[in-house]
Amino acid sequence: MAGLRGSYVCSCAFERNIFLKKLKLHVVFKDEEQFKRDYKEEFSRRGISENQYAEIISGVYEEIDRRKASGPDSVKRKKIISESYKHLHPHLLRLKDEYLADDFLQMITLSKDRFATKEALLSKLVKEKAPLTYSFKVFTDSFCDQFLEEMENFIQSGLPIGKPNTMNNYGILLLEIGFKEYFFDPLVFNFLSPIAKILYPDWVGDGLDSHRPFIVGYQLGKDVDLSYHYDDAEITLNVSLGKEFNGGELYISGMKDELDWSSHCYKYEHRKTRGLLHRGQQMHGAMEIEDGERYNLVIWMRSSSVRNKCCPMCDRKPNLVEVEGEGAGFTVNNVDICCTL
Ligand SMILES: [Fe+2]
Ligand SMILES: [Zn+2]
Repeated sequence: MAGLRGSYVCSCAFERNIFLKKLKLHVVFKDEEQFKRDYKEEFSRRGISENQYAEIISGVYEEIDRRKASGPDSVKRKKIISESYKHLHPHLLRLKDEYLADDFLQMITLSKDRFATKEALLSKLVKEKAPLTYSFKVFTDSFCDQFLEEMENFIQSGLPIGKPNTMNNYGILLLEIGFKEYFFDPLVFNFLSPIAKILYPDWVGDGLDSHRPFIVGYQLGKDVDLSYHYDDAEITLNVSLGKEFNGGELYISGMKDELDWSSHCYKYEHRKTRGLLHRGQQMHGAMEIEDGERYNLVIWMRSSSVRNKCCPMCDRKPNLVEVEGEGAGFTVNNVDICCTL
């Protein structure tokens, strides 16, 4: 995939934001010397033994290897799935207006009307408590049901599943199962980007031009919560698809570089069909689910015009590495490529 737009990641992907599940801690790993130096105190405070330390190190190497292989692995899975998967609801592969909630359709119209005001757009959204977070009904109820049926059908097919990240064990990468050209591309580029550009001009820049959509699932005995983190996205849309559940609220505060982000945390209750829009760099997490099953569609939306200047994961000018697969939304304009993986 060399040279294709979107086939680049920042080299920080192979050393930063490595999540130690058991410790619920994000770490940076450049080499063993640096790692020992930076986390010695933290590990001794947590009473980590020599054996546990060795286990942590091997886990870190494993995660870095997984990240390096994730592009080629994704390409392989996508090929297998496209050759063998029989969609339960093939009509869903092509986005239609009838899947979208009325308010969202009106927002789309307003965002494209050069005479419409920002206030008109805001009147269709609910301003949530956390700064610059907005919710709205995204899909119809029946779309959510059918989409989840499709996901269950895919899981039951036994075909390889791409996990969205290290924090979620139960999830599905949607670009691998055909929801791209006719679904998420138009949803993000034609519908969400013009809306986000009005709400978050600084984070959208010239437009949202790539995305990473995935499903996450929570239930007792599986993943129950999600640690505090920020996303590899300029803008995130997090939509509740159901089913029935108690607990599992999203908690969200300020931007990761705001010193007081830990002191102001707001709860957002998921409701089927509704989505929450927030900046990817806003710190957030998920509370424990108490019962039932909860599924959310999360769309990480990226703007190359913004991230080419500053990588959101390391806050530096991106040091690009060419990779196979989708990449992380960087483009080669104005940035130097460091190497090829
Ligand atoms: Fe997130
Ligand atoms: Zn970076």
